Amino acid sequence: MTTHPQFRPALARRSSALSGKVRVPGDKSISHRALMFGGLAAGETRITGLLEGEDVLRTGEAMKAMGALVAREDNTWIIKGTGNGCLLEPDAPFDFGNAGTGSRLTMGLVGTYDMTTRFIGDASLSKRPMARVLDPLRQMGTQVLAAQAGDRLPITLRGPRHAAPISYRVPVPSAQVKSAVLLAGLNVPGVTTVIEPVMTRDHTEKMLAGFGARLDIETDGEGARHIRLEGQGRLSGQEITIPGDPSSAAFPLVAALLVPGSDITIENVLMNPTRTGLVLTLQEMGADIEIGNRRASGGEEVADLRVRSSELKGIAVPAERAPFMIDEYPVLAVAAAFAEGETLMQGLEELRVKESDRLSAVAAGLKANGADCTEGEDFLSVRGRPDGKDLGGGTVETHLDHRIAMAFLVMGLASEKAVTIDDRSMIATSFPEFMGLMAELGATFEPLDENAA
Ligand code: S3P
Repeated sequence: MTTHPQFRPALARRSSALSGKVRVPGDKSISHRALMFGGLAAGETRITGLLEGEDVLRTGEAMKAMGALVAREDNTWIIKGTGNGCLLEPDAPFDFGNAGTGSRLTMGLVGTYDMTTRFIGDASLSKRPMARVLDPLRQMGTQVLAAQAGDRLPITLRGPRHAAPISYRVPVPSAQVKSAVLLAGLNVPGVTTVIEPVMTRDHTEKMLAGFGARLDIETDGEGARHIRLEGQGRLSGQEITIPGDPSSAAFPLVAALLVPGSDITIENVLMNPTRTGLVLTLQEMGADIEIGNRRASGGEEVADLRVRSSELKGIAVPAERAPFMIDEYPVLAVAAAFAEGETLMQGLEELRVKESDRLSAVAAGLKANGADCTEGEDFLSVRGRPDGKDLGGGTVETHLDHRIAMAFLVMGLASEKAVTIDDRSMIATSFPEFMGLMAELGATFEPLDENAA
């Protein structure tokens, strides 16, 4: 195991049946956007259900550094925005920690302002490619004054006096790239167009329209979406209710499927169709997931998911579904390790540039715990053991990646032998309540460091 003074290892053992009703914290993607758009809009934005994870709080700090007022009163976050076009130059670098979404969207937001901004982050974020966002920004007139090799952090940007609107076809299926270009377009005269050949999560478009941006979306004959945004319009503060994050719900959900006798309900989960790929895939594998109480909340559909332990069978997961479940592959791979037969996951090239190289981190973690899998350039196939026999007994390197940590703690709840992870500290970036919530359901993880909390 890699040892590091700040690492906080943990261990998961086979659990007895999970039961109860829980709510997971607010959706991370929507939480980032709520703080950003609230900080930019004129007037007051009130947010309930905000994810108070480290990643999101850093976005709040960035908006404060550019003139927004951000405060929490009881369970409501109250933001007083600067008005579109009126962000101030920050005094210090933005430290985005582990947060890809926060850093990339903020680069877009500030990239067309005539000001200098500097971006820093942790070891994971500093390895991630930023060219995907800087390339379109350069076309709009942004100068990249400093960057590490391959357009990596630390990065210094200088916006142009007069930015130019562009029409940009997104070369990779990425909601972060789409969003960065649209946010850059907010401060540019004329119409900025993003062409998205493969649809990705649509929270930016939906929420910008809610804040009053003039934006229209058309799908062409080839299925590509053309999103046209009129720049320099007025954005007005909104009331926002943030639903539970399906990417966080994925962990208790898979745990309940794998631990025999379990019956849990996860309430108030976002059911936006660009986010429900995992639920659909697990249902195809034979999972007993009842989607009840579907209702509208804050402009999105939400539902309660009742999950009972199930015998899963392997399937081929369609590559086209990847954008709708991109963050869920680590925990799906764990589910596949307990399914009968082979599960083939294709179209996974984007997993290599997440908080870690998730494809290799997942394959290494599975192998360390006795699971039979094959890692390809852009695919993973897993041959499962329905009873978890001989699985476990290994230590997983998490590479500063919260979803690797949570996925393998889930594995240990159902495998014959315990599973250890080298570090659980990063879980706080997206799901600070994870350990406590799993304990409420009946699963207890064992912290392995001294002074453990
Ligand atoms: C996100 C988009 C996805 C996802 C990330 C959140 C967003 O990244 O993996 O966790 O909020 O826009 P990509 O845009 O790189 O696919």
